[in-house]
Amino acid sequence: MSETASVPLIADYPLRAHNTFGFDVRAQLACRIEREDQLLAAVRDPRAAGLPRLVLGGGSNIVLTRDFAGLVLLIALRGRRVLREDADAWFVEAAAGENWHEFVAWTLAHGLPGLENLALIPGTVGAAPIQNIGAYGLEMSERFASLRAVDLASGGIVDMDASACRFGYRDSFFKREGRDRFVITSVTFRLPKGWTPRAGYADVARELAARRNGGGNANTNADAATTADAPSAQAIFDAVVSVRRAKLPDPLALGNAGSFFKNPVVDAAQFNALLEREPGVISYPQSDGRMKLAAGWLIDRCGWKGRALGAAAVHDRQALVLVNRGGATGADVLALATAIQRDVAARFGVELEPEPIFL
Ligand code: FAD
Ligand code: EPU
Repeated sequence: MSETASVPLIADYPLRAHNTFGFDVRAQLACRIEREDQLLAAVRDPRAAGLPRLVLGGGSNIVLTRDFAGLVLLIALRGRRVLREDADAWFVEAAAGENWHEFVAWTLAHGLPGLENLALIPGTVGAAPIQNIGAYGLEMSERFASLRAVDLASGGIVDMDASACRFGYRDSFFKREGRDRFVITSVTFRLPKGWTPRAGYADVARELAARRNGGGNANTNADAATTADAPSAQAIFDAVVSVRRAKLPDPLALGNAGSFFKNPVVDAAQFNALLEREPGVISYPQSDGRMKLAAGWLIDRCGWKGRALGAAAVHDRQALVLVNRGGATGADVLALATAIQRDVAARFGVELEPEPIFL
């Protein structure tokens, strides 16, 4: 890496525009990273010596509960390209600071399907592997080839494949052992040439059918959408965008970080006991015999949907999403989250684990 790289560090930097909850907190130091070599220059700057660091992309999966007495690295690395192809797939690379949704749209515009189910997820490409983003029947790990990262501990560059990233449901190596050590600078995706539509998620299947019928009857099932009239990748993209707009609040209008809790996974015995008491519980069988429960349903059932605690509230169309109605702090959202966890544990015996990262 260049020894001459330099990057301006800005003191007392406001982070309100860098977190989608819109919390009004500040960083002791911040810098905008537009080139990879600026990362080491920033952390080696004497003013940043010994300070903790925080990497920020779009700030759409983080809860900034207080001012940050450290150095914030604002990832603004840009660029995307088709890297290569083999007999089975295209390999597409994007820099960490690229907007995720625009990148997905760009792949489709270039005739490269495979990421359409993940349309409209806020944030950056570089954050996508952190929690292995997923939606509407697809997880990023299914399209992941490798990533490049700077190891802030050694100053070296590492290339990591999927097994090194240890992806799980809303989880990876970077949320655990690798936390705050690696800065992802680019991600390469493998988009299979033998693409087939993934249109089984009920909301998406319904939306596709409604569109096929000219906006009329929305009653169908997954099979109808995948077999009778296979949708194009663009049709899935459009349907996902439409479903998301109907359900999830736009962070520009109402601060939020998407799902605030993970969907909890319980063993068969606990599930059967729960089902007896709550026959309506929404669940998804896992390959290991356990059951994933819809946390939104559990919270909704406890009567929290639409309710507020001060300026922090539960979204009125999706109980898994906590929102800032204006002027809320991270502490307000935490107090609301704690009250919800307590009620869900008391009623169902299920622990809800937060999904976003907390400062
Ligand atoms: P940030 O919030 O900036 O960062 C998140 C974490 O990643 C932090 O720990 C940060 O330090 C780290 N990080 C960020 N960039 C890097 C990097 N380059 N290198 C190393 N570490 C990094 N998520 C889903 O999975 N599925 C959804 O359907 C979904 N829907 C959402 C809907 C809404 C309305 C909102 C607000 C959020 C939603 N999310 C969803 C969550 C969020 O969009 C994703 O987690 C996204 O990947 C976060 O990107 P970001 O750039 O905003 O990350
Ligand atoms: N439900 C309710 N009441 C609610 C909310 C949901 O009864 O208030 C029910 C729904 O009717 C549905 C079920 O719960 O039957 C699941 O709801 P939904 O389809 O909205 O999905 P989710 O499980 O709440 C997950 C992800 C989302 C992702 C969607 C679509 C998690 C934690 N969340 O939400 O991801 O977009 O599925 O795949 O896994 C995120 O991670 O930030 C995120 C938004």
